[in-house]
Amino acid sequence: MVKIFINNKEYEVPENITVLEAAQKIGLQIPTLCHHPELEPIGACRVCVVEIEGARTLQPACTTKVYDGMKIKTNSDRVVNSIKFNLSLIMANHPNDCMYCEADQRCELKKLVHIYDVRPLFPPTDLSDVFDDSSPSIQRDLSRCIKCQRCVRVCSEIQGMNIYSMIERGYKTIPQTAFDVPVYETDCISCGQCANLCPVGAIYETPDWKKVLRLIERKDKILIAQTAPAVRVAIGEEFGMEPGSISTGKMVAAVKRLGFDYVFDTNFAADLTIMEEGTELIHRLKEGGPFPMFTSCCPGWINLLEKQYPEFINNVSSAKSPQQMMSSVIKTYFAKKIGVDPEDIVVVSIMPCTAKKDEITRPQQKIKLEDGREIKATDYVITTREFAKLIKFKEINFMGLPDEEYDNPLGTSTGAGAIFGVTGGVMEAALRTAYEILTEEKLPKLEFTAVRGLEGIREAEIDIKGKKFKVAIAHGTASVKRLLDDMKDGRRYYDFVEIMACLGGCIGGGGQPKSLDPEILQKRANAIYTIDERSTLRRSHENPDVQKLYAEFLEKPYSHIAHKLLHTYYTDRTKNKDKAMSS
Ligand code: SF4
Ligand code: SF4
Ligand code: SF4
Ligand code: FES
Repeated sequence: MVKIFINNKEYEVPENITVLEAAQKIGLQIPTLCHHPELEPIGACRVCVVEIEGARTLQPACTTKVYDGMKIKTNSDRVVNSIKFNLSLIMANHPNDCMYCEADQRCELKKLVHIYDVRPLFPPTDLSDVFDDSSPSIQRDLSRCIKCQRCVRVCSEIQGMNIYSMIERGYKTIPQTAFDVPVYETDCISCGQCANLCPVGAIYETPDWKKVLRLIERKDKILIAQTAPAVRVAIGEEFGMEPGSISTGKMVAAVKRLGFDYVFDTNFAADLTIMEEGTELIHRLKEGGPFPMFTSCCPGWINLLEKQYPEFINNVSSAKSPQQMMSSVIKTYFAKKIGVDPEDIVVVSIMPCTAKKDEITRPQQKIKLEDGREIKATDYVITTREFAKLIKFKEINFMGLPDEEYDNPLGTSTGAGAIFGVTGGVMEAALRTAYEILTEEKLPKLEFTAVRGLEGIREAEIDIKGKKFKVAIAHGTASVKRLLDDMKDGRRYYDFVEIMACLGGCIGGGGQPKSLDPEILQKRANAIYTIDERSTLRRSHENPDVQKLYAEFLEKPYSHIAHKLLHTYYTDRTKNKDKAMSS
């Protein structure tokens, strides 16, 4: 510990932390823009400057380490004037079009401009004219870019994708793709992490909420929503609830108030995924491979597979993601049950994920009906953030809503389905079912704690009937790539591997509420495990409505009809990339 003085008061803080971290520990909020708790600090925006006794110039709190006896001022006139000056410089290179901006109330620049009562001191400069709507997942309007480099850093440090780098100089600097190609023509995996970390509205999810709003207002179709496991532990943050709050009941009530006819639970489809993927795993064990087998529920991972690791295509489970399984079942089984034409149904997915917007545009995700028509399974995907926007737009008082229940028959789920939302969850859910089916015995303990946690790569050895089963889990694409490179070069070997593109899995998805809380992933993960613990059913194969779906419609896991509706295939897209770059 070291002794420091902040604004003339003495504190003891751990050594080796930054002034910013020390200030946060004692409850002070130093303003920041380029800083993000998940990223290496770079000291670019100089909005966090503080006065340090003995230093000639003001120092950025985010990059300056504390030392014993350090005397810091965070609120002197010199500091405040400098913060205002720096914010004013940023404003001069920003359109200040807050009324129409996608960042909405989440804009970190707007908040600081209000707090520090900043007025423009400089004439506006030329703004970038880069507008990129090539991707179904994210859009880029670089006229709003404040050059904080968070998008560049998250895409390289956490995702290992290096899609952007800063180009040009001075006020013209922007984060751009190689050769200025539209982002969708790069190796971008559509994870949306750049949109999640952008402090302003320069990168944002493709705004599908407006299309959904029109649908709700037109009301000429049967509207069905499904909500993913990770949305219920994060949506509350958009309405001021503590991170990690579970708001399943309010969330369902909000969807109903928006005007949807039915609300189904993607957790049901997560249970269904386990039945299909688990059966595939057992099938591969009996057939002798191919191993390793990889999970397939993350479309960000599927993009990475097809764009950079096509050698693993045959190793990835053919099971569709829970989102796509749910929509396929809605437009076949459920449509028949309620006696309507599938084309009179519109399915909207509420997801933590921007890659899911991309997934629904894949041609092989269409479903073929008995009469030969090919239709989209999911019609629209909106993120957790877009869902919150819709709720606010329709003047629904989220906090005042009662708890309501999902509709049946696709609303029942188990704890195993719930944990799909967190890294390690798909693996744990699959192991619960595979173990009991293979051994024909009840698991002595349901929690596979060895596969839990937030370390980028985790591995475990599971004993199933005397056979040692080597498993691995990776999340955050930089860690995923490290694992895959090691596997490719024979440095690591596993039987079963779970991959999630985002840090923490879907709880940290690119469409989740933006947060500067360094504990955010842990809090959301805890909430997910609480849902599992509180569930009366905790194994996917115990879900009575999944059992009924097989009995009434799908026959059995991995049947011909299950294959037709619930499985997919992957293609090598490295060639397409080469074509795009040379055109
Ligand atoms: S969506 Fe993901 S991969 Fe694509 S540019 Fe953004 S952070 Fe990088
Ligand atoms: S696009 Fe957003 S995250 Fe990227 S540098 Fe600009 S303001 Fe920062
Ligand atoms: S980890 Fe989840 S949120 Fe992130 S890309 Fe994959 S499915 Fe989407
Ligand atoms: S937040 Fe410290 S320099 Fe930007």
